[in-house]
Amino acid sequence: MRLSFCCTDTTPEPWLQGLRAALPDATLELWQPGAAVADYAVVWAPPQQFLDEQTGLKALFNIGAGVDALLRLRLPPQTRVVRLDDAGMSVQMAEYVCHAVIRHFREFDGYQADVALGKWSYRKPRRRQDFPVGVMGLGVLGQRVSRALAQFDFPVTGWSRSAKSIAGVQCFSGNASSNGFNGFNDFLAATRILVCLLPLTPDTENIMRRDTLARLQPGGYVINVARGSHLVDEDLISLLDSGQLAGATLDVFRTEPLPAAHPFWLHPKITVTPHTSARTLRDESIAQIAGKIKALENGAPIASLAGVVDPKKGY
Ligand code: NAP
Ligand code: GLV
Repeated sequence: MRLSFCCTDTTPEPWLQGLRAALPDATLELWQPGAAVADYAVVWAPPQQFLDEQTGLKALFNIGAGVDALLRLRLPPQTRVVRLDDAGMSVQMAEYVCHAVIRHFREFDGYQADVALGKWSYRKPRRRQDFPVGVMGLGVLGQRVSRALAQFDFPVTGWSRSAKSIAGVQCFSGNASSNGFNGFNDFLAATRILVCLLPLTPDTENIMRRDTLARLQPGGYVINVARGSHLVDEDLISLLDSGQLAGATLDVFRTEPLPAAHPFWLHPKITVTPHTSARTLRDESIAQIAGKIKALENGAPIASLAGVVDPKKGY
């Protein structure tokens, strides 16, 4: 069995070593133009040439959860895409989002500013029930995040395409498309802190824009940990500047790295992090991918694997 590795922005050697150890019988190669056709590939942001040449792939393993960039390329017909299914990401995402929610709710930025002035001053405790959190996307990451928030006794609501039942979380469902909202407005109206954990698809692109964000409860707060194109940047800035929204924590951007001149960097109500909320963990990812390749080689149908992307849904 031949396995090809083609991951841009990734140091290949440790991955190749790990994959060789996990799959000693495989012929593993770092992809070069003109390489032999492989049975499986491990990819991140591969060039179109790779996909054009690799016409025999039974499965394409993406070393991230989001497949939006990969699905914009022309894939070999019949090739199934398998994304990372958690692989250590959901706990990181829960840490990041809980940290952002609690930092805002407990006004830790304000305390930090006071420290800089040598000022010892208490703020009046705020009521948790006044800070309902709405999590858009209740998949692998969104479910873990919403459970973690519920553990801190925040009122938590969630939005997903298909109906869900999660302890401590009020779940709404429907296709949040740009055109028809099917109850999405009720979800927004019940939300003060909005967390985006949707995949980026034609339905969800620009989902956080003036008219949707304006439906959040007064003092709304935005946490975007999914993709930059879910958010219309200018609309966020204008709603922050008018005082309608209280702030935002943003981990993902339309252009990454975030350009030096982008107004998000210095905006006093925005916290920026460099797409780091849930990183790909190499060992966990290798173990997951190798396990799936072994299962396929032993005759398991691909549909039985977790994380197989539905090209019609786009995630
Ligand atoms: P997932 O398991 O595929 O979950 C996606 C969720 O979104 C599902 O609940 C799905 O509903 C829902 N959804 C999709 N389209 C929808 C629509 N139009 N209307 C309503 N709900 C919709 O994905 P995941 O593993 O949780 O990851 C989510 C995203 O996080 C990824 O796609 C990626 O962009 C982002 N991410 C970011 C980082 C980072 O470091 N910032 C790291 C990893 C992932 P159903 O359950 O009904 O299908
Ligand atoms: C990171 O953003 C991922 O999709 O895994």
